[in-house]
Order: sequence, then structure tokens, then C-alpha cells
Amino acid sequence: MIGTSHREDNQTLRVIVGNDAAVKAARMGKTNPWPEGSILAKLVWKDEIHPKWTKATVPGEFVHAEFMIKDSAKYQETGGWGFARWIGMNQAPYGKDNTFIQECQACHVQVKDNDFRFYSSCAPTLAYVPLRFWMSSGCVCLNAPKLEI
Ligand code: HEC
Repeated sequence: MIGTSHREDNQTLRVIVGNDAAVKAARMGKTNPWPEGSILAKLVWKDEIHPKWTKATVPGEFVHAEFMIKDSAKYQETGGWGFARWIGMNQAPYGKDNTFIQECQACHVQVKDNDFRFYSSCAPTLAYVPLRFWMSSGCVCLNAPKLEI
């Protein structure tokens, strides 16, 4: 696991996980740029209030899974990252064709200096302070104890 966040405007919980290459780079703090072959995935659930403990917000309905895949040669036009998203439990592909990538890119380009990623290292950085309305929980320390995914 690489990070977690909460979006207040659409009440969703998010977990960001990575493949071995990405997790290794995150632990070593070598994430700008991320190494070739890194894959980051964001899993998104609707907020749900726990029925037996109403102060707890837990993952409810699964919304989507999305990916960023680092391959600088293949995805040269989009900063070296390939983008993909699948919707719901049946994982329907998002978008009719690959023009949806422009939508992803349009937002992520705001954090071009952070290799197109919104998360930085442990402390929230100035780069994403203007984006805080999207996130309430900040970022999780990348050097946190190892978590198995
Ligand atoms: C409206 C702006 C916006 C758009 C459009 C957008 N993203 Fe993001 N994305 C974010 C923000 C903000 C974060 C970090 C906070 C969070 O968890 O939401 C993020 C995080 C991610 C992450 C986790 C890695 C990271 O950067 O922290 C992935 C993977 C991702 N987005 C993929 C996509 C894909 C694929 C698309 C297009 C289908 C897309 N995004 C479109 C704003 C956006």
C-alpha cells in the first residue's frame, strides 16, 4: 500500500497500491521520476457508516479501479504514464475509446513536477495544497511499516 485519501465532495474512500517496483521506489523515496515498470492503482469505494459503530466510515459500494503505468517509450505523449480505469464490481472499461486519457491527463498535468502524481513523500507538499479540497486525509508516510497487500 502506498497511500490513502478521502474525498469529501463525492464521499469516497481511496486506497493507492503499487506493484513491487512502485512499492520499492516509494520505500527508497525514489519517486521523481518513478522507475520504469511502476504500476500504481487507485481503488475507490463509497463512504459507508458502520452500522454498529456510527463514528466509523468504512468502504461501501465499490466505485472504480484506475491505474497509472510507467512506460516512457510507450506513453511518451502522456508524460510516460499510461492511464486506465474500470468501473464497478463487473469492471467495465471506462470510455468509448482512448480519448478518456485526455481527461486523466488534464488533471494530472497539474502535478507534472511530481511526475504527474498527486502524492509526494510523507509531508503534504505545496504542490498539492491547492488540491486539498479533493482530499481530507493528506498522505500516508511512504516509509510507514510494511503492509502486505
Ligand atoms: C479532476 C482531477 C482528476 C482526474 C480527471 C483524474 N485524476 Fe487521478 N487523481 C487525482 C487526484 C487529486 C489524485 C490523488 C488523490 C486521490 O486519491 O483522489 C489522483 C490519483 C490517481 C491515482 C493514484 C496515484 C496518484 O497519483 O496518487 C491514479 C492511479 C489515478 N489518479 C489515475 C487516474 C486515471 C486513470 C484517470 C482518468 C480515467 C484520472 N486519474 C483522472 C485527480 C484526478
